[in-house]
Amino acid sequence: MSKITAAITAVGAYVPEYVLTNQILETMVDTNDEWITTRTGIKERRILKEEGKGTSFLAIKAAEDLINKKGLDPKEIELVIVATATPDMKAASTAAYTATSIGATNAFSFDLEAACSSFLYGMSVASSFIESGRYKKVLLIGADKNSSMINYEDRATCIIFGDGGGAVLFEPNEEGLGLQDEYLRSSGEGREFLQAKYGGSSYPMTEEALKNGEHFVFQDGKTVFKNAVFNMADVAVKILERNNLTKDDVAWLAAHQANKRIIDATANRIELDENKVMMNIQKYGNTTSATLPLLLHDYESQLKKGDNIIFAAFGGGFTWGSIYLKWAYNS
Ligand code: UT7
Repeated sequence: MSKITAAITAVGAYVPEYVLTNQILETMVDTNDEWITTRTGIKERRILKEEGKGTSFLAIKAAEDLINKKGLDPKEIELVIVATATPDMKAASTAAYTATSIGATNAFSFDLEAACSSFLYGMSVASSFIESGRYKKVLLIGADKNSSMINYEDRATCIIFGDGGGAVLFEPNEEGLGLQDEYLRSSGEGREFLQAKYGGSSYPMTEEALKNGEHFVFQDGKTVFKNAVFNMADVAVKILERNNLTKDDVAWLAAHQANKRIIDATANRIELDENKVMMNIQKYGNTTSATLPLLLHDYESQLKKGDNIIFAAFGGGFTWGSIYLKWAYNS
């Protein structure tokens, strides 16, 4: 009997309608389109403005897009994983609310949090459930409402982040397609360089912290940048070497969209042509857990059965890694 592999068999996505352009940001903080474009590659990002709508709104919309496109009966879904760094609420599972809302009433569900690597780690977790033979339909959603934790008076962070959601379905494959290999890492030494300090269990919210904006995301951009460039390139090289792949064997690089310069550096390190590098950071900015599925959604029509895709991500914690996946269908 051939080994069961875990393949992505459908993709869905959603981004909010409101477009926050560099020109609008120029009126909010001391910045300009030229600086943002040359330093990050970002032109605009989407923001979920409606009051009371959280990450689950993005997750539900992305999942519904997938369900409609695939013609999937949500009752067949056995597990829903919501990869996110911005859950709707503390103490209540965002995934449970999402699963019930999309009609996945036979599924169990949980949130998975690993900052910007949440979706990448989620690919590993979802695949394991399929490869083991335990489940046959696992829905992995990556969604983040980053605008809920951004200070729109801090030019170091507000220019980078956006809101969005993407979803993929993992199913068993007997042709050897789907997830082939992974190299996942983390180091707690990175915690101080990218975090929102107050409002969690270490530092519950205080009036003082709220007044000082210490519940917003803080980033030591330079340190995060250096670590992201080094580690994303490093894991991409490792996964190629380990699988005896040359740059010619790689059809696509799907890298976390945090900064165009980081993505370019990763592609250069593995000597990949520009036309093989998925890129949509210009439209959405950094959507944390949603960047990888949003790439798959935007490039889906160009992907061919058997294409070798190298995924790479880096995020807070620090967390990072790379996954090698063979695409399983022509759309
Ligand atoms: O997804 C999770 C992982 N996150 C990342 O991977 C993000 C990693 N970091 C980055 O992408 C970059 O570090 C940033 C885009 C955040 C910043 O770019 P940078 O090239 O590292 O700029 P910098 O922080 O070194 O700042 C350079 C200059 C500074 O001015 P001085 O000190 O040279 O006079 C900043 O004050 O640019 C200034 N600056 C800005 N100027 C205009 C910082 N932010 C802005 C801004 N507009 N928005």
